[in-house]
Amino acid sequence: MPTQTPESPAAAPHGPAATSEPVQHWALRDLPPFPSIAVKLLQLLSDEDVQVKRLIELLRSDAALCAELLRRANSALYGARTQVSSLQQGLVLLGLDQVRSLAMAVALGSYVRSAMRIAALRRCWRHSLATALLAERLAHAVHFEADRAYTAGLLHDIGLLGLMVNNPKEYANLLLVSRESGFDIRITEQAMFDVDHCEAGAWLARQWGFPEEILDSVRHHHDGIDSSRYGLLAITQSAVLLSGILGFGVLPPPESGNDPARYDEFRQQLPAAAQDCLPLRMEVLQDFLTQRINAYE
Ligand SMILES: [Fe+2]
Ligand SMILES: [Fe+2]
Repeated sequence: MPTQTPESPAAAPHGPAATSEPVQHWALRDLPPFPSIAVKLLQLLSDEDVQVKRLIELLRSDAALCAELLRRANSALYGARTQVSSLQQGLVLLGLDQVRSLAMAVALGSYVRSAMRIAALRRCWRHSLATALLAERLAHAVHFEADRAYTAGLLHDIGLLGLMVNNPKEYANLLLVSRESGFDIRITEQAMFDVDHCEAGAWLARQWGFPEEILDSVRHHHDGIDSSRYGLLAITQSAVLLSGILGFGVLPPPESGNDPARYDEFRQQLPAAAQDCLPLRMEVLQDFLTQRINAYE
């Protein structure tokens, strides 16, 4: 398969990486740092004895995030009968894990907001949310911690989101080229940015101090699934594939629409418990995702 596309690196307004910065990918240079509150939330994620008090203190330290969190908590997304007016109340109504997951989504959403004006890029954000929701569902079914899976799903394409935030027009163009040429986006990324989003994401995850398990999911989310070890990585990989099959991939579904046969085949390859959490008709799952993602936006 060719590694060059008509939109070769010459189309991007950046020069090659400076030799003094061998590990800095030029397409990520000057990328704004990941919100420190999100990094701290990730650290709490790997802390099994996280205390509610510490989470509240952390969230309170960011007034904008706190306000947005309450707004989301009150949205149709959670359908709370009582209005959530404080963090403590939100924690009682939603639970610690849901609040932590929602806070991560709010923090990441604000990080990518600048790129959301471009429809093709908004699709990438919706893909991240869909993958998070599917990972959460699969995790529940196989008795894995759902909020860890949600976070791994949400962040799996952090490299793509980083490239997109730093180079929005070029990344939108890349998606168009990938769609028209049929190239895997990782090949187009290599051609345009000299790095693909898995490698870029692993680099960012290391720079930003993400937990090792998240870094692992970021780096390997497109690798083949090892069903004999159905842990966080396999859950994330399944959720990534499933979101594409359901029409929530980073590229739009084919003109012929989403293929129910592919969904059935994929479903049957999952461990039995994970199969049971997926409805027989894929439309049911598509409606669920559309509703949850629209409520979020
Ligand atoms: Fe990806
Ligand atoms: Fe993805």
